[in-house]
Amino acid sequence: MPPTSPDESPMDSWRNERRDQAVAAFDARIPALYADEINLHADIDNWATRAPGAPTSLFVWGPLGVGKTHAAWRAARRWVGAQFASDYRGTPVVQTWRSTALFDALRPDSEGGTPKKLMRELQTASLLYIDDLAAARVSPSGWTQERLYEIFDERYVNRLPVLVTSDVKPNQISHIVGERVTSRAAEIFRGGVVHLAGSDRRQGGAA
Ligand SMILES: Nc1ncnc2c1ncn2[C@@H]1O[C@H](COP(=O)(O)OP(=O)(O)O)[C@@H](O)[C@H]1O
Ligand SMILES: [Mg+2]
Repeated sequence: MPPTSPDESPMDSWRNERRDQAVAAFDARIPALYADEINLHADIDNWATRAPGAPTSLFVWGPLGVGKTHAAWRAARRWVGAQFASDYRGTPVVQTWRSTALFDALRPDSEGGTPKKLMRELQTASLLYIDDLAAARVSPSGWTQERLYEIFDERYVNRLPVLVTSDVKPNQISHIVGERVTSRAAEIFRGGVVHLAGSDRRQGGAA
């Protein structure tokens, strides 16, 4: 964290204190594998730091093992910190889901779940991060795809950010999420699609 500067106003230091708390709380949620800082792709960093002209939502795609999930966690952490600028409006709520777990949770027969409450949380969270959107090769049911549409549509009309990682482009997710979400995704991620290229970092590694 940057040191407190002597000319910081009481308002600034109050906000910075809250920022540091929120980032620390988010750190506790980041899986150990993704704890280290990495150099972020410039477009991802611009999104995370809310650089002028940066898109609201971000879709990071590329082959297995290039570092999409790692980049997304680090970007989400940076995004949390960036919410404490002068237009600060309260501590952001971040929902983070692997797509497979999300599809399960949205099923009508979801175990111990309260899909309606969850739906509201997914629709209204300050940031919704869905990891590995195309990893679930099994398409969810039409019912689940409808719930996904409710989430994407509500977030779209309220201009609430969505962060997605995927191994395919946004226009290639329809077999998973359905036509309606694919169409919404095209609008949501316009100007916010980042392709991570490279080789599988897991190959030949200790893991
Ligand atoms: N920029 C990076 N520098 C070093 N290691 C990285 C970097 N990006 C990812 N990794 C590591 O590479 C492995 C694969 O990254 P991951 O984000 O899980 O890939 P993907 O989600 O694209 O399949 C992980 O062990 C991760 O910690
Ligand atoms: Mg991944």
